[in-house]
Amino acid sequence: MTCKILVTGGTGFIGSHTCLELIADGYQVLVLDNLSNSQESVLDALEQISGTRPEFIRGDIRDRILLDRIFQEHDIAAVIHFAGLKAVGQSVSQPLNYYDNNIAGTVILMQAMQQAGVRSLVFSSSATVYGDPQQLPIPEDHPLSATNPYGHTKLVLEEIMGNVYRSEPGWRIGLLRYFNPVGAHPSGLIGEAPQGVPNNLMPYVAQVASGQRAQVQVFGQDYDTPDGTGVRDYIHVVDLAQGHVAALRYLQENEPELLAVNLGTGRGYSVLEMIQAFARSSGRDIPYTIAPRRPGDIASCWADTRLAREKLNWTADKDIQEMCDDAWRWQSSQS
Ligand code: NAD
Ligand code: WQD
Repeated sequence: MTCKILVTGGTGFIGSHTCLELIADGYQVLVLDNLSNSQESVLDALEQISGTRPEFIRGDIRDRILLDRIFQEHDIAAVIHFAGLKAVGQSVSQPLNYYDNNIAGTVILMQAMQQAGVRSLVFSSSATVYGDPQQLPIPEDHPLSATNPYGHTKLVLEEIMGNVYRSEPGWRIGLLRYFNPVGAHPSGLIGEAPQGVPNNLMPYVAQVASGQRAQVQVFGQDYDTPDGTGVRDYIHVVDLAQGHVAALRYLQENEPELLAVNLGTGRGYSVLEMIQAFARSSGRDIPYTIAPRRPGDIASCWADTRLAREKLNWTADKDIQEMCDDAWRWQSSQS
């Protein structure tokens, strides 16, 4: 029997790539997205790449009536839940919007799942739940903390999911803690399309390479890292998407479990290394200046990847050059 998977936030950056991997693995995909940070035209690209157009419902995860209807009308085996707001700075200026969208939205989604008897959930958590890491690589049992309202929503949602899991037998929940997702599909047809000034390094660098922005501001060169700039575990979005399929399969094939697992490569790159790699991919100069540290930033962050390998039989295999090549192909196709 073909399983139908409800993908909330499925027209977004990570969700759209995950839809492709689900389709490639034989799943039927139903996307629910309110298009607050994505475009319906993503579905055309998904159809062009995969030959299959996912079913799409434009709507909000906070709309309980809509959710009840979706669960009644479709035979849904599991939910992969990407929908949410993700800009750290905006979460500081609009905390209530973040608590409403991310926390209230997820509670409503889980209530609808509970009522419909759907108890398999794969959730987009984040390495932000580790706060300022006390050890590297970061294992899943590292202490958790939050430094901004966005991170707080992920922390609270992990706790809520833990409590729901313990309250009632049968829930299968994957808390996937992503490190720094970057890159794009190798087709160049889908990728990250930030509105306004990008918050994250890779899309900003891509826009400098394409001439849309003058230079990269490197936030701090006095960190305790090999070249003084921040080090992160960048992971190709296609690897990350495949991690979701591996997690879904694991949850479906095993006894009910609450699994928190890192999705990263286990390797860190500095801001300057990232700029150099992007310059190689694009063949363009990427001017940069050193700017003050960005408030709330940490020096270094990379994943302990053993649990994902052992439990999910999954590892990320695309390297930094492939991430930059694919991001550049996508960037070049824009505008
Ligand atoms: P994205 O903004 O591209 O995708 C999120 C999608 O959710 C968008 O299409 C948006 O329109 C939709 N959405 C937002 N609120 C909604 C609502 N209330 N109802 C229905 N749809 C709604 O972001 P992304 O980078 O693909 O991130 C997906 C998930 O992964 C998010 O939960 C994010 O917090 C998490 N995450 C992202 C990163 C990252 O760096 N991109 C890192 C760690 C975790
Ligand atoms: C990476 C490095 C910056 C922009 C954020 C969220 C995190 C997660 C992923 C969702 C850092 C430096 C950046 C620039 C720079 N999202 N930088 N100039 O901060 O590791 O993580 O996105 O869960 O929660 O906090 O990613 O891409 O913003 O920064 O020098 O213009 O690049 O200081 O060292 P970050 P990032």
